[in-house]
Amino acid sequence: MITKDVFARRRERFYDGLGEGVALLFAAPEALYGHDTHYRYRPDPDLFYLTGFAEPEAVGVFDAEKRRYSLFVRPRDRERETWDGRRAGVKGAVDTHGAWKAHPISELAERLPELVRGHVVLHHAWGLSEASDRVVSTVLSRFRREARDPRPGPSLQKDPLHVLHELRLFKEPEEVAVMQRSADIAAQGHREAMKAARPGRHEYEIEGLLERTFRAAGASGPAYASIVASGANATILHYVENRRRIEADDLVLVDAGCELHGYASDITRTFPASGRFTKEQKRVYEIVLAAQKAAIAKAVVGNRYIDAHDVARETMVDGLLDLGLLKGRRAKILAGTSDKKFLLHRTSHWLGLDVHDRGRYNDEKGEPRLLEPGMVLTVEPGLYFREDEKGVPKEWLGIGVRIEDDVLVTQTGPRVLSEKAPKELDAVLALTAR
Ligand code: GLY
Ligand code: MN
Ligand code: MN
Repeated sequence: MITKDVFARRRERFYDGLGEGVALLFAAPEALYGHDTHYRYRPDPDLFYLTGFAEPEAVGVFDAEKRRYSLFVRPRDRERETWDGRRAGVKGAVDTHGAWKAHPISELAERLPELVRGHVVLHHAWGLSEASDRVVSTVLSRFRREARDPRPGPSLQKDPLHVLHELRLFKEPEEVAVMQRSADIAAQGHREAMKAARPGRHEYEIEGLLERTFRAAGASGPAYASIVASGANATILHYVENRRRIEADDLVLVDAGCELHGYASDITRTFPASGRFTKEQKRVYEIVLAAQKAAIAKAVVGNRYIDAHDVARETMVDGLLDLGLLKGRRAKILAGTSDKKFLLHRTSHWLGLDVHDRGRYNDEKGEPRLLEPGMVLTVEPGLYFREDEKGVPKEWLGIGVRIEDDVLVTQTGPRVLSEKAPKELDAVLALTAR
């Protein structure tokens, strides 16, 4: 769990980053599931990061000059709480979440002008939601009408998310501990999946097993729709139907992670359902594993984040040349795009409160940014031979292999958070032996 003092420390850094003015953060709205029920609410990662507040219908107003924040929240309501669950309310916002003042959300329009007036800079993420843009533009239009007020409205607009997402990119020790646990739970799910998946079982049975493992360990559930892709389904990158019966000689690609205290893990393993790789499957697996290890070794302070992708790609191109599935000169292939039909995606993304975590990938000049301690990224090369791929001998068609780990960049090298999910050939074969 992230404690109150950690949230307070983050707000101090947020105020430092803003420098001046007042920043607004609106909680993401609830999403309808059908016409009158909702998806389980997922706390807004940005507001949560700074306050620990996890409810919808909330707005934080962060004053970088007075270094304090106000929180607008759903008030306590016995009737509503009987139906929908407990609320922190105005008192909880102050006592538990460290707000300087809190108010019912119904008072936002009335109180917001006073909190913003007098500041030169307004930090608001325009374009994120029409509803929040409307609230802000209503306040601004009021300032225009009240032009004779001695304290004018803000004259400068900035995006608070640049500052906030840069903070989120660097994981604190408390976050690393939660992310490690999130990865440990996900890894346990993968081990269970390897033991259980066999010809005759269905993909959804494995999905159920994964998610049971997540929940039983205290995670709130999957961090994204779990992918259990057997046979040629493994060549569909975000396959989530999970309906097929697993057949003999299938590979099973499982891409699943859990969400723990808001933090995602994101792990992929690929294994033979019957405990034996075919010759072709084994060759492909070995190439992807070699590429993944080479890429992890690049997750080092001072390297470009894209170096992991580049070395993974080189390793896989070498492997494809060996197999005769790519032809021509290596340098020419690497300069071109002929490998793209087998390498369908990039190798890394940031990981944190969002599975595709926020934070920029390039520096101000547009160059790939350099890795620094505290960043967490995935390393997930894959090779895919789609069933309708032209010019590929049929024994390769329908094979898809991806191996994905979560990697923390440290002063002393890459730390693989997800290492408890086996990926070495003999370890995978030991767990899948039938
Ligand atoms: N599971 C989504 C991804 O690997 O990016
Ligand atoms: Mn994944
Ligand atoms: Mn991923």
